[in-house]
Amino acid sequence: MIRSHKTFIIILISVTIIVTHTLLNSSLNKGYFNLPEFRKMLQIYDGQLKWVIPGQVSPANTMIAKGPHPTTEPGIIFLQSSSELNPKPLVMCSIESAARLNPNKPVYFFMKAFTGNVSAYREPEYKGIPLLSSFKNVFILPLNFNELFNNTPLAGWYEKVDPSKEEYWIHVLSDGCRLALLWKYGGIYLDTDTISLKPLKFQNFIVAQSANYASNGILGFNRSHPFLENCLTDFVEKYNGAVWGQQGPTLITRNLKKWCGTDNLDQFLNKECKGIEYVPNYLFFPIPHTDWKQYFEKYRWNNSNDAVEKEFSKSNAVHVWNFLSGRQKYDIKGSQSLIEYFYQKYCPSTYGTLSN
Ligand SMILES: *[C@@H]1O[C@H](CO)[C@@H](O)[C@H](O)[C@H]1NC(C)=O
Ligand SMILES: *[C@@H]1O[C@H](CO)[C@@H](O)[C@H](O)[C@H]1NC(C)=O
Ligand SMILES: *[C@@H]1O[C@H](CO)[C@@H](O)[C@H](O)[C@H]1NC(C)=O
Repeated sequence: MIRSHKTFIIILISVTIIVTHTLLNSSLNKGYFNLPEFRKMLQIYDGQLKWVIPGQVSPANTMIAKGPHPTTEPGIIFLQSSSELNPKPLVMCSIESAARLNPNKPVYFFMKAFTGNVSAYREPEYKGIPLLSSFKNVFILPLNFNELFNNTPLAGWYEKVDPSKEEYWIHVLSDGCRLALLWKYGGIYLDTDTISLKPLKFQNFIVAQSANYASNGILGFNRSHPFLENCLTDFVEKYNGAVWGQQGPTLITRNLKKWCGTDNLDQFLNKECKGIEYVPNYLFFPIPHTDWKQYFEKYRWNNSNDAVEKEFSKSNAVHVWNFLSGRQKYDIKGSQSLIEYFYQKYCPSTYGTLSN
């Protein structure tokens, strides 16, 4: 009895030594124990720690973590629900300006078609991904809809919906994504046509878009906030893909009215209603959508005057209504338009990539 016990221990020790030696050797040879590689192997993904075997292709392995992840560190969230891999200058400017003004916050850019490997997107074919990922607080992440909607009220909807029959599919998808992203991770969501002018305050907030009407283009929430859960449920229950904004600003408006127990949201402007700050429109929408052309008007400023600075001194950001303005092409460089002013000052790297 005692003898076999001893033998067992000896065998166990020998096996341990051999295994450790072999593992350590091959690992050192492959360089697994340098820190960045090691961090890639242990990834925090969707709230779970996952051990990733290098070289093995799995969904988690496509997430090459360069730094923090929204699960562990809420930040500023941008998303692109189309398959575009070359973000437009306005998208780049929105992300760059947010990254520069909030240097201590991670800025996450979720892209549908991105694989997770930044080094695979090089110039000259790709401009935006290399430029944006050169900012130390910008992290580009793949956007996998099944994973995102998993464990949210949107999972069943996403399974059933037929994109080919949807009139506003990219927009509806984006409406659903931002709610799910904020509910799962928390942070601040910004539309990709929002140029930041000031650092953002992390709090639960919704922005007024117009009289008694809230926006879903800019939202700030803590993870698992019950208001967002209401919105996700409402998204499915009242879904109507044929009506523009039904799952977007209209959804936020009707849910905020319910949350605050009012038909008149404007009474909460600059105030909090049950833990949600209702922010006035001039902070993010200083020019209403009906006047979007003002951003592109030529000769709005001269080098010597600071009238623009004064005009927008109260705003945290400018939402430039790409849904309307994106249909036309505008020259930015040399136009002396408001948009050129904002590019030069708030996203100089993007500005440098514009053609004359
Ligand atoms: C990332 O892309 C680069 C360039 O295409 C390639 O050399 C590298 O092996 C890729 N890395 C992974 C982990 O797929
Ligand atoms: C939201 O989360 C942040 C940390 O990310 C925390 O500082 C803040 O107090 C939270 N706010 C609310 C309203 O729970
Ligand atoms: C800028 O200068 C031009 C030429 O001198 C002038 O026509 C224009 O009105 C000025 N614009 C502003 C906003 O001052």
